Amino acid sequence: MRITGSTGFVLKPSAWLNTSVVMDAVNKPRNITYKGLTDLVTETDKMSEAAILEVVKKNFEDHLILGEEGGVIGEVASDYLWCIDPLDGTTNFAHGYPSFAVSVGVLYQGKPTAATVVEFVGGPMCWNTRIFTATAGGGAFCNGQRIHVSATNEVERSLLVTGFGYEHDEAWATNIELFKEFTDVSRGVRRLGAAAVDMCHVALGIVEAYWEYRLKPWDMAAGVLMVEEAGGTVSLMDGGKFSVFDRSVLVSNGVLHAKLLERIGPATEELKSKGIDFSLWYKPEDYRTDL
Ligand code: IPD
Ligand code: CA
Ligand code: CA
Repeated sequence: MRITGSTGFVLKPSAWLNTSVVMDAVNKPRNITYKGLTDLVTETDKMSEAAILEVVKKNFEDHLILGEEGGVIGEVASDYLWCIDPLDGTTNFAHGYPSFAVSVGVLYQGKPTAATVVEFVGGPMCWNTRIFTATAGGGAFCNGQRIHVSATNEVERSLLVTGFGYEHDEAWATNIELFKEFTDVSRGVRRLGAAAVDMCHVALGIVEAYWEYRLKPWDMAAGVLMVEEAGGTVSLMDGGKFSVFDRSVLVSNGVLHAKLLERIGPATEELKSKGIDFSLWYKPEDYRTDL
């Protein structure tokens, strides 16, 4: 699917993101402020979002935008919603610890339809990037090459990934338990700290699955499309139908999905039975979806 701007400009994936802001910053001292005790934001997060907004606003003036740093901007009547994470894995970025990413996913009536994630890899003395792109029905690619999820069909032979948000609530505590249980029965559970990258790694077939509670639309919009287009499966952590405005996500290579849900599903149902909030969040008011 091609997304054409109001000016007639067709936005190519490489043109979506101005990642030079982040690359220019990787070897420089960070200017950090705090959203919470451990929830950081750097000047680079804000500059990266500003650079992306400049391109999107100019070429898609009739679209709606949801940026992590700037919130909702644009035309509420639009079917398109741009979900922008200008720097996913800010803590890693602040420490110079690979990897982190710039992630942009575009929804059409609530469904991911086009995505780009630029992953910053390597670390000090060898920073580099790789670019993941996907369009609905058009496949997923890394640096221009088609990518596929792995074919591993046993949990015991799997490398899994999860994440833990900044809010240490009951869902967080449940996931600490899941981390422990899956560490016991798989080849390992990694915790990288950049949700968009984690999902791209499932799409790339280097890990089998990833799950996390409490992610936001800008964390997930691009990554979930990458996994689907690479042949994987995306659901909520109770097994339900996914939307980027939900508060849990499980992505996998597909063949392992049901096996993972045997444990992740009941743990999530238990949270729901305690009245823990799993309602939609961060959905711009009046944005039309078929949810
Ligand atoms: C965070 C990362 C992290 C995840 C958090 C996210 P940020 O995004 O994706 O891996 O565990 O839930 O908020 O704050 O670095 O953009
Ligand atoms: Ca993020
Ligand atoms: Ca971010």
